[in-house]
Amino acid sequence: MNRTSAARLATSLFDTLFTSRPAVLTSAPGRVNLIGEHTDYNGGPVLPVALERRTAVAASHADDWIVASDMDRKVLALDIDAPLRKTWTDYLVGVVRELRPLRAAPPGAHVAVATTVPIGAGLSSSAALTVATAKALSLLAGRRLTPAQLADVAYRAEHDRVGVRCGRMDQTVSAHGERGTALLFETATGALRRVPFPGRLWVVETGVSHQLTGGALNDRRRECEEALDRCREWRPGITHLAQLLPADLPELERRLPSPLRLRARHVITETARTRAAAAALAAGDLARLGRLLVEGHESLRTDYESTIPEADRIVASAVEHGAYGARLTGAGWGGAVVLLAPAEREARIVAEVTRDFAERFGRAPEIWSSRAASGVRREAIPV
Ligand code: GLA
Repeated sequence: MNRTSAARLATSLFDTLFTSRPAVLTSAPGRVNLIGEHTDYNGGPVLPVALERRTAVAASHADDWIVASDMDRKVLALDIDAPLRKTWTDYLVGVVRELRPLRAAPPGAHVAVATTVPIGAGLSSSAALTVATAKALSLLAGRRLTPAQLADVAYRAEHDRVGVRCGRMDQTVSAHGERGTALLFETATGALRRVPFPGRLWVVETGVSHQLTGGALNDRRRECEEALDRCREWRPGITHLAQLLPADLPELERRLPSPLRLRARHVITETARTRAAAAALAAGDLARLGRLLVEGHESLRTDYESTIPEADRIVASAVEHGAYGARLTGAGWGGAVVLLAPAEREARIVAEVTRDFAERFGRAPEIWSSRAASGVRREAIPV
């Protein structure tokens, strides 16, 4: 489908609401995580891809803060120092608060936001918003922050200000993504390695929305911290769960009670799978990559208990009809499935997955494809 770009939508919203042209326009992508789920806050690796779907921020200098988004088209006056409102503007306020100590926040701004990233679908609409906002506002303040600085501001805005206990994966890929590549991010060291991803991936939205600030992710993170504390009783040197190896599993399973044992087992096996997946992708072995995705999904289903029946059905149906593999991507408890398929079977698999899903759940899922796209960028303002 040929959709209007987020950059164009944000500019036209800005023009309409503020009856002037923006001074700065930026955009940042949503992401799918190929594999490495719930490893980023446990010191493990992740392998995300920046999507072609983006969030754009158009902004101009002002003394006050007036913002609007294409979601509701409401024009809102913001007080950056007032308590957060539990709405999308909290992310923007969080970004401004994080830019201030870097002397990279303007005194005020008029801002219009538009997105083509589905919201609440596990595709990092929030990271796309915070990263694009950080870039737009810092440019307005006359500063050029590096992708690493933008990712850090965006992470702190979401984690410390909004209070979602996320890891650093989403902001990192939204800032550092590069066309045609997946990003192997080793969260314990911060090392980034690009792995060629020339093909396209499919996103199957379950239509079940997750609300991250609501708590399931925060609960799992607490369980992982507790599991780490227990593991330290017999492995005092470790600082992250992902440092344990598959060889440690028998001992871990003896020592940890359920569900901590299950959560830790997922993190340890997922860490090994993610590194194997990066190697398979680098070698162009998509069949092996696909099998690792399916194993990853199974681990989320049985050990992390973060999948939903809709996603389980999509994965089973994709595999049955000849996909390389598929997996629930993102935090879980809703969201979307990432699916990899041989080009010659794509059309048939998409049709069969749609049919199976509709038969079971009485509605068709949204399915679309994307190639690996670039990270945050300044955009030329469309005329
Ligand atoms: C959310 C968080 C990420 C990561 C995933 C699970 O998307 O924002 O940091 O923890 O969940 O892998």
